Amino acid sequence: MIKLNYRNVNSIVIGSENGLDIDSEFMAYKVVIKRIITDLNQRKDKPSQWLQWMNLGYSEETVWYVKEFASMVENRFDNILVLGIGGSALGGIAITEALLKPYWNYLTKEQRKGFPRIFFMDNIDPDSMNGLIELLDLKKTLVNVITKSGSTAETMSQYMIIKDLMEKELGDDYRKNIVVTTDQKVGVLRQLADQEGYKTFVIPDDVGGRFSVFSAVGLLPFALVGLDIDMIMSGVKDMDLALKNTDIYENIAAQGALIQYLMDIKLGKNISVMMPYSSRLKYVSDWYVQLWAESLGKEYNNNGERVNVGPTPVKALGATDQHSQIQLYNEGPNNKIITFIRVENFDTKLEIPKIFEYTGIGYLGGKTVNDLLNAEADSTRVALTDYSRPTMTISLEKVDEYNLAQLLYMLEVQTAIAGELYNINAFNQPGVEQAKNYTYALMGRAGYEDSANSLQEKLVTI
Ligand code: PA5
Repeated sequence: MIKLNYRNVNSIVIGSENGLDIDSEFMAYKVVIKRIITDLNQRKDKPSQWLQWMNLGYSEETVWYVKEFASMVENRFDNILVLGIGGSALGGIAITEALLKPYWNYLTKEQRKGFPRIFFMDNIDPDSMNGLIELLDLKKTLVNVITKSGSTAETMSQYMIIKDLMEKELGDDYRKNIVVTTDQKVGVLRQLADQEGYKTFVIPDDVGGRFSVFSAVGLLPFALVGLDIDMIMSGVKDMDLALKNTDIYENIAAQGALIQYLMDIKLGKNISVMMPYSSRLKYVSDWYVQLWAESLGKEYNNNGERVNVGPTPVKALGATDQHSQIQLYNEGPNNKIITFIRVENFDTKLEIPKIFEYTGIGYLGGKTVNDLLNAEADSTRVALTDYSRPTMTISLEKVDEYNLAQLLYMLEVQTAIAGELYNINAFNQPGVEQAKNYTYALMGRAGYEDSANSLQEKLVTI
C-alpha cells in the first residue's frame, strides 16, 4: 500500500508557529473524522449525492465491456485520439503518461507491442489542433469523444471538426472510427451518438468529471493502449477498503485532508503544492490541481453562508522545480504545505559512469541517477524543514497500475473528506458552469439570448 509520512508538519519538528500538534489534533477530530467517513459510505449509494465514484472500483461489468471492445478493435488502429477537457481528459493524461513507456508516441509499432499511439486533444488552440490533425492518418485513428454533459463547447467543436473530416475521408464507414463516452440519457452527444449509431460507453449517474477516471472515461483509453485495467481496479478496491477505516490514525486520506484543512484554517497556509519526484507522475499533479481546485474552491458552504473558501493547489516537479520554485518555498511567505510523492523503485537503474574522477564532478561517478533523485528529494525536504516549512511525503513502492490507482483514489477520498471538513459541496462546480454558460451565450446558443445581450454590454466596459 502507498504510505503517507506527515512527520514534518508536526510542531515538534517545525515549531508551533508553523506546525500542528498532530496528536492533540487527531484526538480532537477523531469523532468528526469517524462521522465523515461513515457518512460518506452511507450516502454513496443514494441518488444525487455525487458519490458513485466510490463504487467504480467494483464495476466489473464496465471492465468486461471495455475489454471486449478493446479486443474487438485490436490491431485496427494506429492512433487513439481522445477528445475531452477537464475531468474528461486529465485522469487519462495522468495515467497514460505515468504508465506507458516514456515517449510512447515516438516508439515504433513493434516497440509498442502493436498497441496504438495515444493523443489527448484537451484544448481548442486552433494551431495545435490543426497540427495534430495534420499528423494523424484519420483512417487509422479511433476517436474517443468523452463528455459527461454531452455539450461542452470545446469538446463538441473538436468532435464536429473531426467528424466532418472523417466523413469526407472515410464515407459512411467513419462511424466505426468513433466511440463515445457520455451520460446514459442526458446531453446533445448522447442523442447524436444514438442517431449516428456510434459505439458508446456510459459515465454513470452521480459521477462528476474530476472523479470519473476509474469509469469508462479512463478505463477505455487505458485498455486500448494495453494497460492492465484489472490491476488498476485492484488498486482502487484495495485502497477503498483501507479507506473505509474510520480511525484517523489508520486512514491516510483522512490524515492528508485534516492536516491540509488545519494548515489552512488555523495557520493560514492555504497553498497546497503537489511535487512528485518522478517525471512520469508530472501529470498526476495537473489532475490533482483540478480535483482540489474545483472541488474545494466554493463561494457558499452547506448552510448557504458565503464563505469563499478553498486552498490553492500548485503543481511542481522534482527535481526540475528545485531550480525554479524552491527558493520561494524556502524563503518566501510561509503560506504553503508541500506534498512530495516519492517513488521507491524505478523501472530503470541508471548508473553514472566513473569518469572525470579527479574533477569537481567526480563524486557523481559510480552512483545512480536514482540515488541522486531521491537524495535531492531528501535534501529539499530537510531544507524546507530547516526553514520551518510544513511538508508531507506520499511514498509509492513503484509506478505501476496498482500503486498509481491507489494514489489517485486516495487523493479523491482525501478531497471528499476535505470538502466535508470545509462544510462545502465538493462535487459541484457552479463557477465552471457560469463560464460555460457565458461561452454558450457568446457563441449564439439558443436559449442563452438574454445572457448574450447583458454579456455584450459587460464586454464593452470590463
Ligand atoms: O470535473 C468536472 O466536472 C469538469 O472539469 C468537467 O469534467 C469538464 O468541465 C468537462 O465537462 P464534460 O465532461 O461535461 O465535457
